[in-house]
Amino acid sequence: MPKLTIRQWPLPIETGKATILDAALDCGVPFPHGCRTGECGACKCLLLSGDVAMKNYDSAALSASEKAAGFVLACRAKPSGDVHVAWLGETASIDLPVRRLAAQVTNMEQVSPLIKRLYLWPEEPLQFAAGQFARLKFADLPARAYSMASMPGEEVLEFHVRLIPGGRVSAHIEDDLKVGDTVQIEGPYGSAHLRSGDDSPLVLVAGSSGLAPAKSIARTALKSQPDRRVHLYFGVRDEAHVYDERELKVLVARYSNLRVDTVLSDPAGHTERRSGNLAEVLTQDLSAHRDAQFYVAGPPEMVSSVSQAVAASGIGREQIHADPFHVSGQEVDENAAAQAPPHNVNRLLDGMRGLLAIGLLQHLKSRAPFSLTKALQEPAAESVAPETANGVAGRR
Ligand SMILES: Cc1cc2nc3c(=O)[nH]c(=O)nc-3n(C[C@H](O)[C@H](O)[C@H](O)COP(=O)(O)OP(=O)(O)OC[C@H]3O[C@@H](n4cnc5c(N)ncnc54)[C@H](O)[C@@H]3O)c2cc1C
Ligand code: FES
Repeated sequence: MPKLTIRQWPLPIETGKATILDAALDCGVPFPHGCRTGECGACKCLLLSGDVAMKNYDSAALSASEKAAGFVLACRAKPSGDVHVAWLGETASIDLPVRRLAAQVTNMEQVSPLIKRLYLWPEEPLQFAAGQFARLKFADLPARAYSMASMPGEEVLEFHVRLIPGGRVSAHIEDDLKVGDTVQIEGPYGSAHLRSGDDSPLVLVAGSSGLAPAKSIARTALKSQPDRRVHLYFGVRDEAHVYDERELKVLVARYSNLRVDTVLSDPAGHTERRSGNLAEVLTQDLSAHRDAQFYVAGPPEMVSSVSQAVAASGIGREQIHADPFHVSGQEVDENAAAQAPPHNVNRLLDGMRGLLAIGLLQHLKSRAPFSLTKALQEPAAESVAPETANGVAGRR
């Protein structure tokens, strides 16, 4: 059986026919990842030795030059023999173990035309950081990623599920799921989580069910740091899609330093609320947020446009934590991916990843301690050293 070794993990892993990511996650390794379908780039890693076959992926998640330099997407790469990799993305919370727990549905409510709130009671507490997600497995359907809306430490987990037309799991949740049903939970995962030991202001940008991680982050931060400045932008199409307003008003009444702007992208008639797309509305306020940490969650296009707007204003990319909600079941269509617009969140963060990659490569060559901060501060080298490139057997 081929062996997978990971630079940041002490034990070798047997891969069988699985991708690098599946093999790692099956063994409880906190390998950084997001969509698992080759679209977000969060699982990008450096192939230090060995060969892999790549399943189809979005070229915005892994550029041709990155591929030529020896990078692969762990969620798309199947080892052809023994392989050794080093992950590039920021790991989530390496101290938090990935658990697989059974949970019971204790309550459900339709909170807006498209969103259903679920409360799940796990057999044992699930440790996670605010902003992280879990993979939920309903009946015999494939697992899907959903972010926790509850605070770490709360016994019952809250999720906001956007019902996707034609979606398999969405249809099950909409039509068949009942209170008392069992759901399998696997997690926590995700690196767009609230950082501990930081008190800078928070700007939370949530599109639709992106409110779930934003709410978890806001409540968690304010509970331990009641004076922290938090500004939540919650974007929905129109008045009918606004939800959780009463709960947010209670929070605003409790914390005078919390501000919530509900933004309607397509209001039906006159509105007292702010309107327009989230990137435009946020841009009007950016001069007041230069020292903030930005957490952006929801539809990938929204996350992309907001992240671009923030970075274009000169705010440091290390201040942006993007959490695009890619839909799991839709495998990347190769033709569509080849024509994908160049401006997406992955391209935006490529510059930062490039710097990290070069820092990592220098570290691998010198064996000096790898410093994330140093890698971000150092100017990018002209090109990646040719001896680091590996023969990657990819389909692109
Ligand atoms: C890190 C992360 C966190 C997330 N957090 C949340 C959250 O908190 N809340 C939330 O609502 N969502 C969240 N999501 C998104 C959520 O995981 C998806 O909405 C979910 O995967 C949809 O699953 P589904 O089975 O309902 O739809 P799927 O069955 O996956 O299908 C979705 C759509 O794709 C189409 N499709 C599927 N397969 C094909 C195919 N082969 N060819 C053509 N079309 C196809 C379907 O017709 C449908 O329109 C998150 C995603 C990620 C990556
Ligand atoms: S997890 Fe691999 S590209 Fe998103």
